[in-house]
Amino acid sequence: MITFPEGFLWGAATSHFQVEGNPSEISTRCSDWAEWTVADGRIADRTTADQACQFFNRYPDDLELLNQLNLNTFRISLNWPAICPDANGSGLLLSIDSGQIEHYRQLLRRLKGQGIKTFVTLFHFCLPKRLADRGGWLNPATPEEFGRLAEIVAREYKGLVDYWITLNEPLAYTYQGYICGAWPPGLKHSYDDAFQCIHNMLKGHALAYQAIHAEDPHARVSYTMHWRPFIARNKLSPTDQMVRHLRDAVFNHLFPKSVQSGKLQFPFPFSLKKAVEPLSGTIPGLKDAMDYLAINYYTRDVCEFSYEPPFDLFGVKTVKSEIEVNGMGWESYPEGLYNVLTEEIAPYRFDSKGFERPIIITENGYASVFPADMTDGNWSLDDQARISYLKSHLLAIHEAIKHGANVQGYLHWALLDNFEWSEGLRIRFGLVRVAYPTQVRTLRQSAHYYAQIARQNGLDAGDTGNGLAR
Ligand code: FCB
Repeated sequence: MITFPEGFLWGAATSHFQVEGNPSEISTRCSDWAEWTVADGRIADRTTADQACQFFNRYPDDLELLNQLNLNTFRISLNWPAICPDANGSGLLLSIDSGQIEHYRQLLRRLKGQGIKTFVTLFHFCLPKRLADRGGWLNPATPEEFGRLAEIVAREYKGLVDYWITLNEPLAYTYQGYICGAWPPGLKHSYDDAFQCIHNMLKGHALAYQAIHAEDPHARVSYTMHWRPFIARNKLSPTDQMVRHLRDAVFNHLFPKSVQSGKLQFPFPFSLKKAVEPLSGTIPGLKDAMDYLAINYYTRDVCEFSYEPPFDLFGVKTVKSEIEVNGMGWESYPEGLYNVLTEEIAPYRFDSKGFERPIIITENGYASVFPADMTDGNWSLDDQARISYLKSHLLAIHEAIKHGANVQGYLHWALLDNFEWSEGLRIRFGLVRVAYPTQVRTLRQSAHYYAQIARQNGLDAGDTGNGLAR
């Protein structure tokens, strides 16, 4: 049996749009995503998140699952579009929907009552439509409003939130929205916009970080990084190596490097671009605005240089994997997680005062594929592939801890099957299966396996999860 440090956080994660089916958001389509999903051809299986898991109304029962799984931590996100339905015309003065504020207060109180630690994300890919219509993150009003949102919710939920996450995966968001166009606003190869978006997200993060700390100096605030190891297809090829280097420098390092130093500096050759000149330099309140390192980790990308225009600096072209992949086309690559925890994030391990930042894995999980209209029955419950993914990644984390990584928690993505953005409902990440037509929840084998790990605060390296009761 290998054990994890005492007090280790064992949890699961969700995000509001993916699970809620928030009735007021859906009826008014007040978010960019609620609108995006109803346009033809954008979601692979043509589903929407209009119902999703109906978590908005079913959360009391769903939170019971956490205790059933022996989990001590849960991650949610707040529905910014529904909380701030209107901007009083100016875009800065928010009007707040007190019913929505109350909703999350009840949810957070319930978690506290159950003895569960809470992670709360402020931006998990969804913008109020009124902001999206005015340029979204490209508009300087957006970081301003984001800072105000942070101030308001930090005051409202004081004492109910253990860890704040300002932005979820800012680079994944920028990449999907401005480079490959799979998510709102749906732009392709729009590099200058992408740089502006990164700049404004850093500003928004700094404002939110400072606002939360002004309300509660002891708050723990960070943002999540989707960390992806990039591997050159041909290690001896200088052009493959160059793409590998650029993707790593932008996707993995640009954001944390800026927060560490307080300055946005685009790596060469981006630094030669005229458009990035006004975006570069110090961002007020940014330096050290990261109290812990929140890592979302799923897989690696093998990349190669392509001579076809447009020149692909962010690397949209990923080489197809030759080994087994999951429903997202993602390889299981646990050694990458070990490297991230022990080497890749080393530059961000300490803040400028010498404080060692704890590391929390805020997402990690395995996707399977089953159509959204499946009802009750036996399908998908015996999820050995998810069990091996979970086990191999926990072993990698344990190994990293043994070699000095200060990892203090692991949140599995996801508690429930949910709406997987442009892939729709058929991609299933849940420990708990959701039969969407009936909304029945059923624990998968992996849920039982994970529950045992959380109870023991450790795992038996030889255990395959096969002997667990269903
Ligand atoms: C992450 C997102 C999360 C979920 C997983 C699979 O990039 O943060 O919402 O979609 O991927």
